[in-house]
Amino acid sequence: MAEFRLPRNSRIARGVTHAAAAGATQVRAVRIYRFNPDSGENPRLDTFELDTKSCGPMVLDALIQIKAATDSSLTFRRSCREGICGSCAMNINGVNRLACTTPMQELQGDIRIYPLPHMPVVKDLVPDLTHFYAQYAAVKPWLQTRTPAPPDRERLQSKEEQEKIDRPAACILCACCSTACPSYWWNSERYLGPAALLAAYRWIIDSRDEATGERLDELEDPFRLYRCHTIMNCTDVCPKDLNPARAIAEIKKMLVERTS
Ligand code: SF4
Ligand code: SF4
Ligand code: FES
Repeated sequence: MAEFRLPRNSRIARGVTHAAAAGATQVRAVRIYRFNPDSGENPRLDTFELDTKSCGPMVLDALIQIKAATDSSLTFRRSCREGICGSCAMNINGVNRLACTTPMQELQGDIRIYPLPHMPVVKDLVPDLTHFYAQYAAVKPWLQTRTPAPPDRERLQSKEEQEKIDRPAACILCACCSTACPSYWWNSERYLGPAALLAAYRWIIDSRDEATGERLDELEDPFRLYRCHTIMNCTDVCPKDLNPARAIAEIKKMLVERTS
């Protein structure tokens, strides 16, 4: 029989509340998903009453402050703290975003932080991205050539050719898009998802690449590419203002054009 509720061991329990320090003047509740697979316990939602006056303005600042001052076991990824490495992607107040570029001031009410949706969780806010990275590798995101490079210079592009790949090459592989995509949620084993498809597109349109036909052959598949139903969540959430949905539509167009 179909089961419509989460399995018992997936249900999120009420966690602990860490009260604000005495004398705190600008308190906000930060509710954070906690999960430790080694404990054998269900995930829980802890509440941290944070004095925002004593920490920086971004959600990442709040997490760093909570880890430093209240609970050192809180686990999350971060590196650059300026929207470049993509490692601090998480679901904040219902939207996939980068914690380091999300000002707390722009969030209404309590701040609610979960890991990126529909991914296995390693611990707390850290999703397991092994499969996501394997899909990225599967599109061979590097230059493929057959002709020898000119002996005296690099393989050059015109300004216009370079500008075509400029935006898709700005992807930071944060996974906000793929984990916001309903088609990816239901078919991530076989559908490549918007991030990997944007990477594929970036190499398909690169004027120096000589494997365009093989790249398109690889994508001509009912699942790998055609599970995209143009729902557009991917483009809506991309923190770098990229447009994976359009890239996917362009690939579909190229596949049609090469048969006509
Ligand atoms: S446009 Fe395609 S890839 Fe983007 S969210 Fe929708 S189904 Fe997913
Ligand atoms: S397309 Fe945007 S949301 Fe998707 S992985 Fe790249 S930067 Fe992140
Ligand atoms: S810490 Fe690098 S993107 Fe947020």
